[in-house]
Amino acid sequence: MKRTALVLGGKTGLVGQALCEVLAKNGWEVTASTRHDVDFAAQGVETALANLVERTEPGCVFNTVGYTAVDKAEECPEEASLLNVQVPALLARVLRRFPCHLVHYSTDFAFNGKKRTPYLVEDEIGPLSVYGKTKLAGEQALLQAGLKGCCVVRTAWLFGPGKGNFVRTILEKCKTNAELKVVHDQIGSPTYTVDLATHSMQLVKAKAEGLFHVVNSGEASWCELADEAVQLAGLPCAVQPVPSSAYPQKAVRPAYSVLNTSAFTALTGVTPRPWPQALRDYVFREFLTE
Ligand SMILES: NC(=O)c1ccc[n+]([C@@H]2O[C@H](COP(=O)([O-])OP(=O)(O)OC[C@H]3O[C@@H](n4cnc5c(N)ncnc54)[C@H](OP(=O)(O)O)[C@@H]3O)[C@@H](O)[C@H]2O)c1
Repeated sequence: MKRTALVLGGKTGLVGQALCEVLAKNGWEVTASTRHDVDFAAQGVETALANLVERTEPGCVFNTVGYTAVDKAEECPEEASLLNVQVPALLARVLRRFPCHLVHYSTDFAFNGKKRTPYLVEDEIGPLSVYGKTKLAGEQALLQAGLKGCCVVRTAWLFGPGKGNFVRTILEKCKTNAELKVVHDQIGSPTYTVDLATHSMQLVKAKAEGLFHVVNSGEASWCELADEAVQLAGLPCAVQPVPSSAYPQKAVRPAYSVLNTSAFTALTGVTPRPWPQALRDYVFREFLTE
């Protein structure tokens, strides 16, 4: 396979930027697109996307474009559906004409959170929010299209360079607060975007097709993740656990959404490292370098 990549959302997105960095470091020729190149909400997007694919001739397209504002999606289901359902369907149509590998990203919010052991790719889905429902419909649109070389990656709870994220918000808040209250009754899989990007590349190398879970190993509550980040940064701030009922949000989140990565490991032979190790790399790189 040609090591040329088209990363949709690669200039401004959290995952997109990590992908561009990791792929380029590994010798890939990378084209990163923005909404100025292809605006997925605009008329004529199919032609614009087809032209971009034809011009860049990618060996692999990585689609990181999505409607990711989880609470806002409750009030804007049509906009969420446009980006999360119609874009994957559009990609399937265009890439049928320009065959290449495709990696598309989805979410742990596909599950209802009632399980208490890590979710397998074949576990029953049950999204609780508009965001979760639209992301799931997008996965299904792509997988049912039967595109050769198409791979859907469910990931979760991302932190990484280049854009705001939960860990960055916590560390910024700690500069002006002696105490922070953080939710302790949602458990998930904290994941470093740079590790996700590396594992995405490994999936392409292994010619992956179908559905995979890719997250760092281990599990944590938001409160545990925040506390670990604060400790690593050496900030004098106390992180206090609170129930999610103390911070009502528009979208319902799964109480437990840890992902089992065994399908990824079975194909690639790679086991993702534990999230605290990955978090240490992120915190040291971003916050302790000056
Ligand atoms: N972040 C997480 O914790 C998380 C967890 C699980 C799954 N995921 C999934 O991972 C994928 C990437 O997430 P992310 O956090 O990297 O998202 P993100 O930072 O919000 O990036 C989304 C990208 O989509 C682009 N975009 C939005 N609307 C567009 C449009 N109309 N036309 C063209 N581009 C448009 C954005 O461009 P602009 O900057 O111009 O808006 C941005 O580059 C998504 O599919 C998401 O569902 C994320």
